[in-house]
Amino acid sequence: METILITGATGTVGSETVKALAGDDVRVRAGVHSLIKGDRFRNLPNVEMVHLDFNNPDTLKAAFTGVTRVFLITPFTEDQVSIGKLLIDYAQEVGVKQVVRLSALGADAEPGIQLGRWHREIEIYLENSGLPYTVLRPASFMQNFVQYSADSIRNEDKIYMPLGQGKIGYIDVQDIAEVARIVLTSPDHINKIYELTGPEALTVNDVAHALTQATNRLIVYVDVPEEVAAAAMAQNHLPDWMVSAMLELHGMAKAGYAGNITNTVEKLTGLPARSIYDFAGDCATVFHPV
Ligand SMILES: NC(=O)c1ccc[n+]([C@@H]2O[C@H](COP(=O)([O-])OP(=O)(O)OC[C@H]3O[C@@H](n4cnc5c(N)ncnc54)[C@H](OP(=O)(O)O)[C@@H]3O)[C@@H](O)[C@H]2O)c1
Repeated sequence: METILITGATGTVGSETVKALAGDDVRVRAGVHSLIKGDRFRNLPNVEMVHLDFNNPDTLKAAFTGVTRVFLITPFTEDQVSIGKLLIDYAQEVGVKQVVRLSALGADAEPGIQLGRWHREIEIYLENSGLPYTVLRPASFMQNFVQYSADSIRNEDKIYMPLGQGKIGYIDVQDIAEVARIVLTSPDHINKIYELTGPEALTVNDVAHALTQATNRLIVYVDVPEEVAAAAMAQNHLPDWMVSAMLELHGMAKAGYAGNITNTVEKLTGLPARSIYDFAGDCATVFHPV
């Protein structure tokens, strides 16, 4: 039986992918950093947890032992390139049959942005490793509105973003997880790169409209200037490198470079990609005032 290691397993994409693979005819090894967050996997069939700290070689060695495939997810940190390369080295050492890499849409853009260049550097390292690979390049996640805007939506009915009327092909993380499940469990996806988006390009006004319908409250998009967004991020203790990277990402979307749509999710899963209305309906309770 295949043993699939998922790094960053308790994160947004990792936890959905563990759930998607639970019940399949594979052994899922969830690489868990904070053990307490791994509790959610305790009752899932065919899922085992392993403590994984990228900075601790003992945990890396144990996590990779006996692994046949890896879903390589790295966190949004300044050292993500060295972590990504380190994980590929471990995958090579145990001779896995496939590394599925979570990258990002636009990773191959020239000259692109810092986040994309970091992802591309890891992609190239993987391609050059000779390991069989599959790269997933998703657009921005719909779930970012849960992670970054839930408080202002709950408390003020507002979404603050510096995106102007820029359109983004937001994707639901459930679709990324289902694509990951498919490419990890069928033989047809070796040395392929998949660009994944939702079904339509959306402004934040469109997102606010979907959330308005789902919550029965008027949710409004407030288009904030870049410097206001930067100050808010600094106030939330985001490090300077992250503020710069986020502003660059937002600037690119505002200028209209993030609205490309692909039909890859539907081609791979056989189902239409989930819409912003599907997402908003599922998450409506998260946005209720407390
Ligand atoms: N957000 C988007 O819109 C978007 C779009 C395209 C691509 N991406 C890419 O998606 C990736 C992030 O995926 P995600 O959002 O699912 O991640 P996430 O929710 O930020 O989760 C990161 C995971 O990494 C774990 N982790 C952190 N430090 C670790 C360490 N030292 N050792 C082991 N594990 C550690 C975390 O565990 P703990 O919480 O316990 O520390 C967590 O499980 C990034 O590469 C990003 O560029 C994101």
